[in-house]
Amino acid sequence: MALFIGVDVGGTKVLAAEVSSGGELRRTARRTTPGRRVDAALVEDALTAAVAEVADGRPVDGVGIAAAGFVDRAGERVMFAPHLPWRGEDVRARLSTRWRTLVALDNDANCAARAEHAHGAARGIDDAVVLTLGTGIGGALLLGGRVHRGRNGMAGEFGHMQVVPEGQPCQCGGRGCWEQYSSGNALVRYARDRIGREPTVLEEACGGNPEQITGPMVTAAAEDGDLVARQAFASVGDWLGVGVANLVAALDPDCVVVGGGVSAAGDRLLEPARHALLRSLVGAADREVPPLLLATLGPEAGVVGAADLARAEAASGAGPS
Ligand code: BGC
Ligand code: NA
Ligand code: ZN
Repeated sequence: MALFIGVDVGGTKVLAAEVSSGGELRRTARRTTPGRRVDAALVEDALTAAVAEVADGRPVDGVGIAAAGFVDRAGERVMFAPHLPWRGEDVRARLSTRWRTLVALDNDANCAARAEHAHGAARGIDDAVVLTLGTGIGGALLLGGRVHRGRNGMAGEFGHMQVVPEGQPCQCGGRGCWEQYSSGNALVRYARDRIGREPTVLEEACGGNPEQITGPMVTAAAEDGDLVARQAFASVGDWLGVGVANLVAALDPDCVVVGGGVSAAGDRLLEPARHALLRSLVGAADREVPPLLLATLGPEAGVVGAADLARAEAASGAGPS
């Protein structure tokens, strides 16, 4: 049986998985992303280790990489990545040489969109906006069932649309980007700001050091009824809906799908977002408001789409285009 592996390279973690042709995860491996100010070779070492763990000595037919960054139109290079050290890096060639197998490359949210269209919430839907909330906000626009790429291959970078002039500094170098208000980073910042000022179980969870707070900690605290954690989700969800309203005003899609790690919180995230969408969308009372749906493949959509991409490229015999 052919072995295709997807690798999702996010700002905080790397997930590699063997994915079946039906989009099911088999064997998986995880690593921590070494950081964004480190040598890019360290990130590539982490990917290599994760892929080797999944392959476990078996020959690999192809690896798809879902990268949290701006991938060029040809799917060769990561040109820029706010949360990763890759800058104009020829990731595809480097890794296919290193691993001696076919390597396909795309933006992580584009991969998630591909997977949700093939196996998930956007199945049978032509025009959809797909968002992934992780460290930042990933975005993809499906038009006629295909990911819209744009001139540079960089379409869909919705997370860096400025929503607050002179707002929070962003890892991209800008200020007030949407992902600073609606993402795992935003969740964590909200919680950190309140520690020591309001009672919260997060104070103990982080051992008194707010720097140690992570997104999953805030998700767990919200599950336990912690008020600060719940308010963090209310805020991140509200900002999600505001941004979605702008995207819907611009694109009028059939639906909007939300995935990524933060989406594990489900309705805790989407309910405030739906309210904000209705409140903020132009002409909301006189139009069909597109449904805001949870990604069926959840945080795993990226690896599934990446493996699908490698499988498709192997089938078409396409090398780098
Ligand atoms: C990056 C995107 C990526 C997203 C989610 C953003 O900061 O600019 O390329 O898709 O984070 O990982
Ligand atoms: Na994208
Ligand atoms: Zn930004």
